[in-house]
Amino acid sequence: MKLSGQVAVVTGAAGGIGRATALAFAEQGIKVVVADINAQGGAETVSLIEAAGGTAVFVSCDVRDEEQVKQLVATTVETYGSLDYAFNNAGIEMENQRLHDGSMRSFDMIMDVNVKGVWLCMKYQLQHMLKQGSGAIVNAASVAGLGAAPKMAVYAASKHAVLGLTRTAAIEYARKNIRVNAICPAVIDTAMYQRVCEMDPKIGQRIPELHPMGRVGRVEEIAASVLYLCSDGAGFTTGHALTVDGGMTAV
Ligand SMILES: NC(=O)c1ccc[n+]([C@@H]2O[C@H](COP(=O)([O-])OP(=O)(O)OC[C@H]3O[C@@H](n4cnc5c(N)ncnc54)[C@H](O)[C@@H]3O)[C@@H](O)[C@H]2O)c1
Repeated sequence: MKLSGQVAVVTGAAGGIGRATALAFAEQGIKVVVADINAQGGAETVSLIEAAGGTAVFVSCDVRDEEQVKQLVATTVETYGSLDYAFNNAGIEMENQRLHDGSMRSFDMIMDVNVKGVWLCMKYQLQHMLKQGSGAIVNAASVAGLGAAPKMAVYAASKHAVLGLTRTAAIEYARKNIRVNAICPAVIDTAMYQRVCEMDPKIGQRIPELHPMGRVGRVEEIAASVLYLCSDGAGFTTGHALTVDGGMTAV
């Protein structure tokens, strides 16, 4: 789990998986840029990191906005001198809905955050990492990026797209000392999971049992996998979609 880099950017780090990963990077001595649209949650993440003896700064960033993403990378480099690791985690779920009931608004919202956001972040992170001559990027996909996700077609499409971006970037920069991987969690206990349960309590009750381990995942279990993908130990791993799913996709 050795991390030779100094600086990580985590988007969507005001809570959930992003916050846990920001904390995990900081525990390893990495300086963390906490990026989110939620300033209060972002500030709380920074406080948690500082209380644990780490170093972090909050940068307000809507990953859908090219200027803000460009500024996020510039601020990271100005503040801490490099950008070694990026976890492009900001993402949104969709309301439970069969495909024929979908709306343009919902399609655009999901694609804007989950796909355009990841693409924009990678674009500016890679520009810097190319100059720097090194870097590791992890993108938040999902088990919904690996197969069907009934009543979540657009979310599934967005996560399949994240894997397309990840694998293609991995090849484009494979000889530039930049690795690009993705994480594919099953259901993880976050605010997103709570919202899905509230939307349809019947489905909510069944969710733990969909995992062979009989439970949903913990944010720390995703954070540890993201850190592994960034670490020197994963030095020969690129273009990989790592499932962290309690056995769900093994069935
Ligand atoms: N929780 C799960 O079960 C699960 C499973 C598989 C994949 N994922 C993926 O993991 C990632 C994190 O999920 P989570 O459960 O921690 O979600 P969450 O809703 O708890 O947190 C998401 C964070 O992203 C931020 N965000 C939303 N839109 C943004 C934008 N436009 N710009 C910047 N930040 C924005 C939110 O403010 C929030 O802090 C998402 O990409 C999600 O699709 C989650």
